[in-house]
Order: sequence, then C-alpha cells, then structure tokens
Amino acid sequence: MNSEVDYSQLKIPTHVAIIVDGNGRWAVERGLSRLKGHDAGFDNLRNLVRYIMSRGVKVLSLYVFSTENFKRAKEEVGHLMDLFVLMYRRDLQIFMEDNIKVVFSGRDAPLPKSVIKARDEMAEATKNNTGGIVNFCLNYGGRAEIMDAVKKIVHASVDVDKLTDDDFRHYLYQDLPDIDLMIRTSGELRLSNFLLWQNSYAEFYFPKTKFPDFGAAEFDQAIIEYTSRDRRFGGNTKA
Ligand code: IPE
Ligand code: IPE
Ligand code: MG
Repeated sequence: MNSEVDYSQLKIPTHVAIIVDGNGRWAVERGLSRLKGHDAGFDNLRNLVRYIMSRGVKVLSLYVFSTENFKRAKEEVGHLMDLFVLMYRRDLQIFMEDNIKVVFSGRDAPLPKSVIKARDEMAEATKNNTGGIVNFCLNYGGRAEIMDAVKKIVHASVDVDKLTDDDFRHYLYQDLPDIDLMIRTSGELRLSNFLLWQNSYAEFYFPKTKFPDFGAAEFDQAIIEYTSRDRRFGGNTKA
C-alpha cells in the first residue's frame, strides 16, 4: 500500500483502534455470501496492518470478534474461527519481518482449542519484537474486561483504597496506553462494547466505507481528520 500524503505534516496517534465492521454488508451488496465478506475483510487486514504500523503508529487494536458475536449462525462463527487460525499461521512470518509484537485481548471460553493454540503460538513467537504492538481483540467484550479486572483485584486482595487509575490498567487484559483514535468502518455509530476503559478520551472517526474497502487512502483521511481535532482532555482549548 502506498500513500500520496506527506505524513511529516500530520499528527500520528500513538494508539489507533479499529472496529472491523461491514464485511457482511460488503458481500451482500455484491450478491455474495457473508462468509466471502469475511474473507475479503481478512485479506484487507493484512495489508492495512502493515501500512498503519509503517506510518509510525505504536499500538494498533483490532476488534475482530466480540463476546456477543457467538450469537451469530454456527456456520459464520465457524468460518471466522477458521479464518483466525489461518491468519495467525499465514501472517506469523510477516509480523516477524516487521518486528511487530502481537498480543490478544479477550476470554478463552468458548473459543475452539485450535484458535487458542494458533493465538498463543503467535503471541509467544512475537513476544520479544520491539517495532510496535498489534492487539487483536478476539472474543473480547469491554464489560467482560472490566469485570475480569475487578475479579483479579479482589482475588489478589489489593488494598483498594490505594488503587489508582494507572494501577487499575495493569489488571486489564493488556497494559496499553489510552486510545488516541478510534475508527469504526461501515457507518455504524456505536462502540458495541469495545475497549470501554481505553476509549475514554479517544477521538472517534466513523467512515462509511465498509471494512474490505478501507485501505491506505482511507486511513490517510482518518489521520488528516485526527490532525485537525482539538483534544482538550477537560482543559481549555489550545486555539
Ligand atoms: C465484521 O463485519 C465483523 C466481524 C468480524 C465479526 P460484520 O460481519 O459485522 O458485517 P456487517 O456489519 O454484518 O455488515
Ligand atoms: C462489533 O461489530 C464487533 C466486531 C466488529 C468484531 P458488530 O457488527 O458485531 O456490532 P453490532 O451488532 O452492529 O453492534
Ligand atoms: Mg457488523
């Protein structure tokens, strides 16, 4: 993927998050099955991840399967699970070449053993890479993450009176910086239980483009828009 945009004039977010959405509608509007939409989405994901990390983003979180997505038809869930296994096997070499550390956020159950194995192998193989972090949110739910953090804190008999925001973060699935830019493709205007804690002060960007068509040029537009935002964090405007 190539870009015409001069990134030296732009603000680069440290942590970008993407809700990968619209695969199903992308396929249906082409007369294809929803499963073909997921195939197209995952083909796009590989190049997009490389492009985004090459632009200087340090952390990229990707919502690829929510805890609620298990409500979908068995065939669709099974196809997505097969795609995850395929993707983690197929793309390991690329993450190694690009020096990217891959981490995961989400619960184990009820993921199939094959997915857990491929996921854990990917995390183990890339754990010492230092060129950036890709965080796959797989069987992820924001409420589940906060609930799981609270349970860990209680089980660890933590002195809760001394607990700070930063301490709390250590109990989340991954200890990552706050999200700067949150992108949801396909025109839906909601979070759908994604990284509720980490999105507190994120800038939101909602392109209409469905995920299989969201490429380098669309990402450039997101960064141009992000650069124009005035982030105040509750303080006074800089303008
Ligand atoms: C991809 O898009 C989301 C997942 C990978 C679960 P969708 O499958 O939600 O596509 P739409 O929203 O139905 O178009
Ligand atoms: C959110 O998208 C989950 C992922 C993209 C992985 P959904 O398509 O499942 O969300 P809703 O149902 O439209 O809110
Ligand atoms: Mg959707």
